[in-house]
Amino acid sequence: MKLSVIGCGYLGAVHAAAMASIGHEVVGIDVDERKIAALSVGEAPFFEPGLPEILQQGIASGNLRFTTDMSEARGAKVHFVGVGTPQQKDGYAADLTYVNGAFEALAPYLSPGDVVAGKSTVPVGTAADLAPLVERTGATLVWNPEFLREGFAVKDTIDPDRLVVGVPQDESGEIAADVLREVYHPAVAKGTPFLVTDLATAELVKVAANAFLATKISFINAMAEIAEATGADVTQLADAIGHDVRIGRRFLGAGIGFGGGCLPKDIRAFAARAEELGRGESVGFLREVDAINLRRRERAVTLVLDALDHDIVGKRVTVLGAAFKPHSDDIRDSPALDVAVRLRGLGAEVTVTDPQAIENARRQHPQLTYVADRDEALRNADAVILVTEWDEYRRNLSPEHAATLTTGRIMIDGRNGLDAAAWRAAGWTYVGMGRP
Ligand code: UDX
Repeated sequence: MKLSVIGCGYLGAVHAAAMASIGHEVVGIDVDERKIAALSVGEAPFFEPGLPEILQQGIASGNLRFTTDMSEARGAKVHFVGVGTPQQKDGYAADLTYVNGAFEALAPYLSPGDVVAGKSTVPVGTAADLAPLVERTGATLVWNPEFLREGFAVKDTIDPDRLVVGVPQDESGEIAADVLREVYHPAVAKGTPFLVTDLATAELVKVAANAFLATKISFINAMAEIAEATGADVTQLADAIGHDVRIGRRFLGAGIGFGGGCLPKDIRAFAARAEELGRGESVGFLREVDAINLRRRERAVTLVLDALDHDIVGKRVTVLGAAFKPHSDDIRDSPALDVAVRLRGLGAEVTVTDPQAIENARRQHPQLTYVADRDEALRNADAVILVTEWDEYRRNLSPEHAATLTTGRIMIDGRNGLDAAAWRAAGWTYVGMGRP
């Protein structure tokens, strides 16, 4: 099928390449010329495992191309819109400038019978606002939220755990749902749940899923705060409650909390939208979820301070990690970098290392020192803090080896990813989060 993908950021670039890899003829469109130039030669503008391979295959096969020219959307049967919805500069709500702009730019090239599938994470009600613009052209607007995780984006797009399509409640909606079944044929054939809903429900599914995940993380971080006051161990607590299948152990990793381009801004936009709907109190807990999350960053800084007996000025602190999570070079709202910046603000000499995210981090925080090589970064450190649980720092760094590099023997484990007993046995002062 001929498809267009409007917006070639994280979501759109992966979607375009993934759709080409399952046999569709795809044109990816974005206003950013540099991004399009890179994608056109098969280069991913960000680190995502598996993406360069499917980009190059798609381009070589002739199934995939990229352009800045919106008129090339003409002739596609389905148009996916996956532009960004960042947090507004002066508030918590989502900024819909790019979404509105993309729909206005696309509308002149739509034909009767086309399907426009919104993929961006939007406040509930956005699709209803955009529908008249699309319907005037004879096309149908559906909302098809995306649940991809960075680092697993290719797999999550080609083989998702569910597909959700919100459609208009008339015959055009049924037809459009069938068109999307055809687009996602390999997943549908293998029995992946395919849920057809109304537009508002589909928009809400996405924000509800992210709100739940954020709440789960903040729940365990709240338990970490209680554990800290009582001498209990939050990781054992998470293991114990996680055995209950109704709870489950995943997303119960206590530490410096969540960041990234989705969870923080999505819960804020959800709370802001609920206020607009007069239902602010229904998701009032999301403010608490946000507050708990931000407190953990501060807590990590306090742990470093305490470990250095509050004598931090001029002390060398090595920060292991800059990305908001491993397998990513994304530093948007990264708790790791936030901790690094705060430590520097207190007067420490901060050295940051990360296997993928240094370039992005340097652009945003040029005041920090960056060292790509892990061992070089550790050399002569007075204290070390692990903030992104890359295998390089978690599995593949032995405390004995680290001790040959550093001056001090202080390890603050901001992700509870290390074997506390092993680090202590090697002579380190090991401090976890929510652990005695
Ligand atoms: C998230 C959702 O998982 C995904 O479904 C949605 O489409 C986009 O937002 P992503 O931002 O890629 O995906 O990251 P995710 O893996 O969810 O992690 C988010 C943050 O939570 C990271 O900073 C991670 O370190 C943190 N986290 C995760 C924890 O602090 N503890 C955990 O137990 C799990």
